[in-house]
Formats: sequence, structure tokens, C-alpha cells
Amino acid sequence: MKTTNDIRATFLDYFGRHGHQVVESSPLVPRNDPTLMFTNAGMVQFKNVFTGQETRPWTRAASSQKCVRAGGKHNDLDNVGYTARHHTFFEMLGNFSFGDYFKEEAIHHAWTLVTREFGLPADRLLVTVHTSDEDAAGLWRRISGLPDSRIIRIPTMDNFWMMGETGPCGPCSEIFFDHGPGIAGGPPGSADQDGDRFIEIWNLVFMQFEQVDTETRINLPRPSIDTGMGLERFAAILQGKHDNYDIDLMRGLIEAVADVANTDPDGPHKVSHRVIADHLRAACFLIADGVLPSNEGRGYVLRRIMRRAMRHAHIMGCREPVMYRLVPALLRAMGLAFHELERAHVLIVETLRLEETRFRQMLERGLRLLDAEKERLPSGGTLPGGVAFTLYDTYGFPLDLTQDALRGEGYTVDLDGFHAAMDQAREKARKSWAGSGEAATDAVWFELRESVGATEFLGYATDEAEGKILALLVDGKRVDRAEAGQTVSVVVNQSPFYGESGGQVGDRGVIALVEGAGRVSVTDTQKKLGDLIVHTGVVDEGTLAVGGAVFLKVDTETRLAIRANHSATHLLHTALRRRLGEHVTQKGSLVDADRLRFDIAHPRAVTAAEIAVVEADVNAAIRANVEVVTRLMDPDSAIKAGAMALFGEKYGDEVRVVSMEDVSTELCGGTHVNRTGDIGLLRIVSESAVGAGVRRIEAVTGRGALEWISVREGLLSKAAEALKAAPAEVPDRVAALVEERRRLERELEDLRRKAALGGGVGGQGVSPVTVDGVSFVSRLLDDVPGKDLKGIADDLMRQIGSGVVALASSFEGKASLVVAVSPDLSGRFNAVDLVRAGSSVVGGKGGGGRPDMAQAGGPDGAASGAALEAIRSSLAG
Ligand code: ALA
Repeated sequence: MKTTNDIRATFLDYFGRHGHQVVESSPLVPRNDPTLMFTNAGMVQFKNVFTGQETRPWTRAASSQKCVRAGGKHNDLDNVGYTARHHTFFEMLGNFSFGDYFKEEAIHHAWTLVTREFGLPADRLLVTVHTSDEDAAGLWRRISGLPDSRIIRIPTMDNFWMMGETGPCGPCSEIFFDHGPGIAGGPPGSADQDGDRFIEIWNLVFMQFEQVDTETRINLPRPSIDTGMGLERFAAILQGKHDNYDIDLMRGLIEAVADVANTDPDGPHKVSHRVIADHLRAACFLIADGVLPSNEGRGYVLRRIMRRAMRHAHIMGCREPVMYRLVPALLRAMGLAFHELERAHVLIVETLRLEETRFRQMLERGLRLLDAEKERLPSGGTLPGGVAFTLYDTYGFPLDLTQDALRGEGYTVDLDGFHAAMDQAREKARKSWAGSGEAATDAVWFELRESVGATEFLGYATDEAEGKILALLVDGKRVDRAEAGQTVSVVVNQSPFYGESGGQVGDRGVIALVEGAGRVSVTDTQKKLGDLIVHTGVVDEGTLAVGGAVFLKVDTETRLAIRANHSATHLLHTALRRRLGEHVTQKGSLVDADRLRFDIAHPRAVTAAEIAVVEADVNAAIRANVEVVTRLMDPDSAIKAGAMALFGEKYGDEVRVVSMEDVSTELCGGTHVNRTGDIGLLRIVSESAVGAGVRRIEAVTGRGALEWISVREGLLSKAAEALKAAPAEVPDRVAALVEERRRLERELEDLRRKAALGGGVGGQGVSPVTVDGVSFVSRLLDDVPGKDLKGIADDLMRQIGSGVVALASSFEGKASLVVAVSPDLSGRFNAVDLVRAGSSVVGGKGGGGRPDMAQAGGPDGAASGAALEAIRSSLAG
């Protein structure tokens, strides 16, 4: 028997041998289409290649694409479990030609592969073509030899394939397998075509057009091929099964479910087994592709899928979480073909366990409420909308879970009542917000958040994506369009841009219309009300309008630098606590592209030696190159697991936990490097005080750190050049120069003093004059700095023994004055009064000192002589 894994491999191998590039499945969250909730066909990743907007180095490709059809336009969720062929998650095998081969080769490959490689008998096959496509009918006749009776013309849209409302499209041709007369149903196009006898296995789309909008359909630049074959249903046929859930892969999962639930895999819980097996795949692959359970958008679809499975586990009598215990079975079945499962293994297990643990706390009480309500209903009655809303709002039952719980017994839900209750609750929330006195400027965001919903953040996984403009604001007011030159705030449905929060600055980048001219250079991104991402910048060209599809591209270099700085901040936090003590707590943090700033509670300056060991710790963790793993946990378990949380911070029900092996674990919503080695290098560039007991550390990483070092080296080289020394000799040479300068200064001061005392080095004695019976020495000195005057005054005083000494000097244009009074005259004269008499002459503002020695200065150096005269007069007076 060919296993599902063999079938996938055979398919890809066949096309690989026939000149096709085998490409990986693209993620379930489409990066290149703002209108799709999930990737739902193999061609999604090639949409822009078909239309000619993008080119690849090859013109033929083949893939096995992960698809999810739950939520949005294609929604199979409600049927899963009850039918043979519905899945929320499935794989689509496909081959593609981008202007290379067309119908003939596509039909040839399909026929050869199905009948030769996989060996299906031709007489069990039939094909359909669009009525208008005589060309395809003729090719089938020639290539397959099928009689006309088995080449069925279909006039309806069943044989015209469109990706969605817009996008590449064209007539298609489908291959059907006939399970034989034992099963009810008629061939395609017949009245009973919906029976199970004839099963479509492969759809070949002859891509020729692009639907631009509802009115306009244009030709593609080159006719192309897109095909899709559901792996699970094809495996069922090859394995002789009629039901997709009986193939090896699904059967393995069902047995794993029965094993953990302790039920008989073929017993009465068939629906529950199928639901869990299917939903397990959807949930695990969605989580691996970056979707996490939430109450909005994709996250809510994931939550609905998970909770639906969890209710079925409960139906089977499981009292403990079971979903996470099934992950190993899925890894065994699909891990080799899809490495992302292994990569996201930890995240998947913890997300499943957390969701199931939390939902279980409400599930039982909700089901009791539901049972009590059912008792009041007549059989086949309608559950009041208000009850369905209480189940939703209080017990976390998504509407479809309530519907699923009622389905078996034929009850329905009053949907209008449910939506009315929902609207009422919203209105109440709005009123209570309006009464809470929040700043009026926030009102606009609140209204906006209400009308357009949260922005889905895609930036953990990608830095570019397409989105749809939901709102534009100019000068704080909502507008329909924004023109070149205007500063605009743009809100889209999904964005890779990080809105400033948790100390990490908002991203910069470009938002451009997918078609036509229109471009905004985003200079700032903010997060409003927790989950509304607002991109602000100037429209550089063209016009943007609400409803337009845009391509959002974060400035990669800046984002990489921010990621490195953010991860480095976590390492720095750990190192500071390790080296300075556990009292170190985070007081503030700023992460931008150029540097990181981290404030900590610490009572004294961090010494240079401490900085050196902290820096060495961080760089050792960088070199260890450990993986940076992000998980979603509830805050209590996260903190128990050792995550550093910020005191006083309010955390939601679920928190992201970022860990770097045993080095660091923190609650953090920011963007991070994949491995610590990506940080490159950290340099702490400053340490300072920002308040009592709070120190600030600034650091640079990666390229920033290298630039910082090279600037430093440049300075060292310049210094060495000026000294005419080798860089290594600079410290000693500088120390020697400083010492020499000190010595020279001392010598110079000495000489000046001697010159002042005696007019020459030999000294000629001091000749005081007598003023009012007191010995008075006054000297006008040239070019002697003010700081030297006191020493000279002391010397002169020593020589005369008793009297008054007054000195004035003009140095660099400014006047300095000193007056000394000998102790025996202290009763008669005060040096401070005397110096003040001179100070006013040189334009000074007083002077100061002690009664025996005072000094003053002033801007008017030329008046120094006159100042001495004034001192002398005041002595006489
Ligand atoms: N894109 C085509 C489909 O999904 C092949 O059926």
C-alpha cells in the first residue's frame, strides 16, 4: 500500500523529474494577499507570478500546499466530523506552469501520473471540461483515449475556477474517480451528482484571465497552468478506502485520539475522533505558522477550532487536557514533510495545553447551563440568542461550538437574538468607556477600534505582507482618501509593523498600493488601545483610499537592529542581576535601532569593573548562540517558570514568554533575534544616574557596536599620530606629558613669583611705602594668572612682617586682585573691604575671602593699576 507520505513524495518526484521546481508549502497565513484569511489553494503563493507582477527563476513548479478552510469564504468547519471528505486542514498537491506549457502538457502529465505512476484503471476515470472549451475536450480524447461519453461538458461555474472575488482565473477540467455502482450517486452534471459514487480527484485550471474587479476581466500576460489534487481524498482512492478518515495518516491520528481518550477507535465516538484528528492538524499547523488563539480574526478561528475539539474530548469523558498529548502522533505522521512542526513543537504543546486547561474550567459549567436550557425547549426548538450569548461571553463558547453541541439533537440557535445581545453588550462597553474620563483624543481610536476591529500583527513571522486599508486619518479625523504631501495615519487589517510598546520603538518602512501609484513613508507606528496598529507618515506620491490593497514593508535593516537590541536588553538584564544582585529591577527600557537604554534600581554607580564583567557575560551568551524561543503562557505559570515580569504591570490572560535557554526568560511582546549569535556583539557605552537610586545603562550592539569601536580606534590612531607614537604607547606617553606639564607649570609659577617679588630672579628686596603709619606694598603684575597671586602675597607679607599687601594682575584681558593684611593689623583693616574698593574699579562684583586675605576679579584688565590706587586710597581714608 502506498502511504500518504509515499503519495506526496511520488507526486513531487514525478514533476521534479519533468523540469518542475519543487517548492515548499507557503505558510497558512498568506503574505501576499490581504483578502484571504488562510491559504486555501496551492496557487496562492504564486498569485503574483501568474499576473506577471513577480517573476521567479523557473517557469514550472510543484508543491504540496498546506490549506485551511475554516473561517472566511471557504468554511468547512461545521461539517467536519460528520462527513467523509470535509477537513479544516488538508494538503493540496499541484503542478504549475507560468507561461510555459499549457493545456496539452498539463493533460498529458495528469493522465500519465494518475494512470501510470499511480496505476488507476482508465475505465474508472472520467473527466469534465467547460462547455466552451472544445480545445480541452479534443486534447482529452487524443491523450487519454477516453470515449466522448466520459468527457463531460459542464456549462456552469463548476468548471470555471476563481481564486476569490478577484485574482487569476480560467476554465478548468476535472478528473473524477468512479467508486462503482455499489455507492449511490451520479456522474458530474447529472441530477444526483452530489452522491458519493463519483469523486473529484484533480482539478486542472487553464489560467487565462485576471479578474480585476467585479466588472473587469483581463487576459493574463501568458496562459498558465494551476492544478490542485486533494492529497487525503486521492490517498483514500489509492488505498481502496471510501472515507478520507480511513487513510493511514488519519487512521493513525484517530487511533492516537482513542488511545488518550481510552475509547474504542471503531466505537460510538466516531464523530469526536474525527473532529479531534482533523482539528489537531489545523491547530498545530496554524500555531506553527504564527497564529495564536485570540478573540479576533485568525486567532479566533484557531480558538474556535481548538475549543470545538476540546468539547469533543469532553464528550468522550476526558477530564484532563488531551490535545497536547496528541502532538507526538502528528509529528510522527507529518514531521518529516513539514519541519515547522518540529521547530514550533514547544510552542504548539504549550499553547494547546494552556487553551485546554483554561477552557475546561468553564466548559463544564457552560454545558450544565446549556443542558438546563435544553430541558425547557420543545424537541427541535430554538435556543434563545441571549443564552447563546451568555455561553459565548461568560463561558467562552464560540457560537459554532454551541451550534455543534445542539446539532445532534436537532435544536437550533436564534441567531438574530445572539447578534442583538452582542450589539447590546458592545453599546454598554462603549458607554462605560465614554464615562471613564479617558482623554478625548482617544475617542477617535475607540470609535475606530469599534468599527474596524483589531489589527492582526504579522511581524513576529515576517517583515512584509499585504493588507487592506480600513481607515485613514488626517489631522485626527477619518477621511476616505489621502493625497500626496499629506501626513496620514493608516489602519489596515493586518500588518508586519510593530507598534511602539514595551519600550520597543515602532517600525518604520513603506506602505504602497499593490496596483497604481500611492505610497506612504511610514516614520512611526503606534499601538492604540492594545491592538490597533496605526502607521503614520507622509504620502510621497499618488493617492491612498480606504478599501485599497497595499503592500506593507518594514525597513528590514532597522528592524534587524531593533531585534538585536531587544534581545540584548534581556541578556543585559540577566547579567546585571547576576553581577550586581537580585535587587536590580528594571525601571525603564528603550529599544530602538541605534541603541538600547536600560534603567535599573541600584543604589550606587556601577563601577567600570562591574561594567566590564556584565559586558563579558552578555557577550559570552551571544557567542553561545542559543535559540530564542517564544511561547504563549498564562501569567502565573510563566512567572512560576521563572519569567521576569515587571512589577505593577498589568498582564492579559495570556502572555508571550521569550526565553534564551537557561540564560533568560522574560514576559515580552517584542520582536527578537532567532539565536543570540545574531546580536553579534554588545558594548556598554555609558552609565549614569537618572534619579535617586536609579542608574541608566546605554549600550550598542551588532553593527552599532562595531561602528562605536571603530570610532574609538580612530580617536586612538589620531592621538598616536599627534604623539608620534605607536597606539600601544599612547597611555604612557600621555601620562608622561601630563607629568611634564605639571613640573613645567610649577617652575613657571616659581619664576613668576620671583620676578614679582624682586623684579628679577636674584631679587632686590621689597620696598614698602608707609601709608597712614602702615607698611604698604602694591604691585601691578603682567600676565600672572589670578590663582598665583595669593602665593606671591604670602611671600611679600613674610618679607615685610607687618603691613598690607595689594596685588593686581591683568591676565588674558581680565583683572585679578588680592589684598593681604598682617594679623597685628586685623583690628584696623579688613582685607575683604579693601579688595572690594579695587573690585569696583575693574568692573567686578565685589570680592571675598577672609579678613587677612581676600580676592576679587573683574573684566577690565586695563584698569588693574587704577584698582591698586583705589585700594591705597581706601587704606588712607
Ligand atoms: N486552484 C485550483 C483549486 O483549488 C486548482 O481547485
